[in-house]
Amino acid sequence: MMKDVTCRVIGQTPLTAGYWALDMEAPGLAEAAQPGQFVHVRVPGLEPIALRRPFSIFGTEGTTLKLLYKTVGRGTSQMNRLVPGDPVQVIGPLGNGFPLEPRGEPLLVAGGYGVAPLAFLAGRLPTKGVVLIGGRSADDVLAVTAFERLGWTVRVATEDGSLGETGLVTVPLDRELARLHEAGATPELFSCGPDGLLRAVGERAIQAGCRGWLSLDKHMVCGVGACLACVQRLRREDGTEWIGRVCRDGPVFEAREIVW
Ligand SMILES: Cc1cc2nc3c(=O)[nH]c(=O)nc-3n(C[C@H](O)[C@H](O)[C@H](O)COP(=O)(O)OP(=O)(O)OC[C@H]3O[C@@H](n4cnc5c(N)ncnc54)[C@H](O)[C@@H]3O)c2cc1C
Ligand code: FES
Repeated sequence: MMKDVTCRVIGQTPLTAGYWALDMEAPGLAEAAQPGQFVHVRVPGLEPIALRRPFSIFGTEGTTLKLLYKTVGRGTSQMNRLVPGDPVQVIGPLGNGFPLEPRGEPLLVAGGYGVAPLAFLAGRLPTKGVVLIGGRSADDVLAVTAFERLGWTVRVATEDGSLGETGLVTVPLDRELARLHEAGATPELFSCGPDGLLRAVGERAIQAGCRGWLSLDKHMVCGVGACLACVQRLRREDGTEWIGRVCRDGPVFEAREIVW
């Protein structure tokens, strides 16, 4: 059930370059949140007509709502100034999240701040598996200890080789898929990150004949299905296409549904 809540900032911590972890007291909202859902934040300090900004839910602890964000522009720069006690208007939880009963071995694939919904998911899935985290450099690799504490095996790939193996995260992904195939296990993929990564993960899920759950990142305005800012071409099981709204029908879709 979606709520419009005035949250209170508990605190925030700068992580690596430009990334922050923000904790807010969000009674009613935090308890209802499911992995893969997001919140729409009215950033304090921006003009009243400014658009809200969408963020995946990184985790919850009782009534505490946790976000992990990258500073990329006006809104997120303004969020850097939030201090304990500041009120923040938040709508959520929004959208449809990841399924929590996988049919196969869960394999999580994150790019950059895409770790946020996957870390929440890692704590709620009944079985643990492998999480693959990719980024341009070591600074883009976040939440490794959070996954490890939850009992997940973490593998890292960076494009510049500053952490983990050098190259795209699809390299260890292909290795993991081959390992599971040899072991006769069916994988189930869960991914969040840039479109290029989601597309690559989706193609592999289709090729492997397994399910692949992709959390799409689209520019949003209303966040609740009313404005058509976040439309995405989708495919039904019978092959017919339709136009969905990422905020309301997603942000998580199965790989076969998405028409890229
Ligand atoms: C469902 C969903 C979940 C998200 N979860 C997270 C999260 O957990 N952590 C996080 O850091 N960010 C997340 N984002 C992206 C986040 O909403 C944007 O980075 C943020 O709105 C940028 O606000 P800004 O005012 O700082 O940037 P702006 O000044 O509005 O824009 C600065 C730059 O960021 C780009 N940008 C703006 N919105 C997006 C977007 N949605 N996706 C990609 N680029 C964008 C702009 O094109 C521009 O280049 C999510 C987006 C969606 C749709
Ligand atoms: S953001 Fe308005 S319909 Fe999705």
